[in-house]
Amino acid sequence: MYRYHCLNPISQVGLEKFPGKYENTDKIDEADAILVRSADMHAMELPEKTTAVARAGAGVNNIPIDALGKKGVVVFNTPGANANGVKEMVLAGMLLASRDIVGGIEWLEKQEATEDLAKKAEKQKKQFAGCEISGKKLGIIGLGAIGVRVANAAVHLGMEVYGYDPFISVDAAWSLSRSIHHINDISCIYRECDYITIHVPLMDSTRNMIGAEEIAQMKDGVVLLNFARDLLVDEEALAKALQAGKVKKYVTDFANPIVAKAPNTLVTPHLGASTEESEDNCAVMAVKQLMDYLENGNIKNSVNYPNCDAGTCVDEGRLTINHKNIPNMISQFTKVLGDAGVNISNMTNKSKGDLAYTILDVATPISQEVAKNLKAISGVYRVRIVK
Ligand code: MLT
Repeated sequence: MYRYHCLNPISQVGLEKFPGKYENTDKIDEADAILVRSADMHAMELPEKTTAVARAGAGVNNIPIDALGKKGVVVFNTPGANANGVKEMVLAGMLLASRDIVGGIEWLEKQEATEDLAKKAEKQKKQFAGCEISGKKLGIIGLGAIGVRVANAAVHLGMEVYGYDPFISVDAAWSLSRSIHHINDISCIYRECDYITIHVPLMDSTRNMIGAEEIAQMKDGVVLLNFARDLLVDEEALAKALQAGKVKKYVTDFANPIVAKAPNTLVTPHLGASTEESEDNCAVMAVKQLMDYLENGNIKNSVNYPNCDAGTCVDEGRLTINHKNIPNMISQFTKVLGDAGVNISNMTNKSKGDLAYTILDVATPISQEVAKNLKAISGVYRVRIVK
């Protein structure tokens, strides 16, 4: 029996994918795995039993991924599962920033008692008119699952699209429309584009990546869209640029006291991925990844450990080792197994940054004693007998 604990409500469509040998537990201490959406896990102490955390979403800034990596806890996310939901919000944001649709609706709501309303509305409409997005330049910073979808949709809407991503994946590059300008110098986006949208994860290296200096390089009257994370933008500097009219509109999905006070903002309450479809897709992906990890030791879409897939174990036993990415680890593992007379039939080892992961299939069942000896090797964070 495997037990999982949900730190936030997770879509039933996803949880129903767990078969009978899985149980949802209220007690975190019993959990082999944790499912989370927005709960802040930074101050949480996880039980030794917990081997995996799956975020039903893309951003993982609420999870201490490095610290958990060193405890041998694999953290998964669900890239792409909610990308369509966010893409649709970005398109809506561009349209709402271009014409004062919200202002027009709000004005009309106050005209209940106005006589000859149709005539008055025709007279007043000028103040809500705006521009079309077709023919305008859109700069996209970050061409992951969301950025690529926004880019392709914007091309279909007649925009000229500039994309910047020094770390673009081969898959993302293949999915991009050929008419998108792939930019190597981000300042070109600042200089050229009428609309700029950010789609990068929040990390130490991206925090405040849009500040006073970057804003100064932008076109006067630029529209900035942020459906990624508020801390990517120095919003104090941005508030000044909004006040001065340098930035025409800031469309953000992240409410906070700075944007609540700033003029010319369109703020939504983190609605990007809050659609039924996105929530279901994220939960299904998170659950499938957890099951493959718990039952087979395979890793797909982890943000701290490398992808590692050894399929289903067809031999007598399988063990997995989470360890430091340093020389001489494999030889120490094989020595422990060899000394115990355990024959290795298959081995996969992968690394990502400071962390590495090894899957070993063996021809004889693995004893707790052997697992204990492996765990005692310096640099080993966790040993798990999967079968
Ligand atoms: C994400 O990180 O996937 C989106 O911002 C949505 C969310 O946080 O749930």
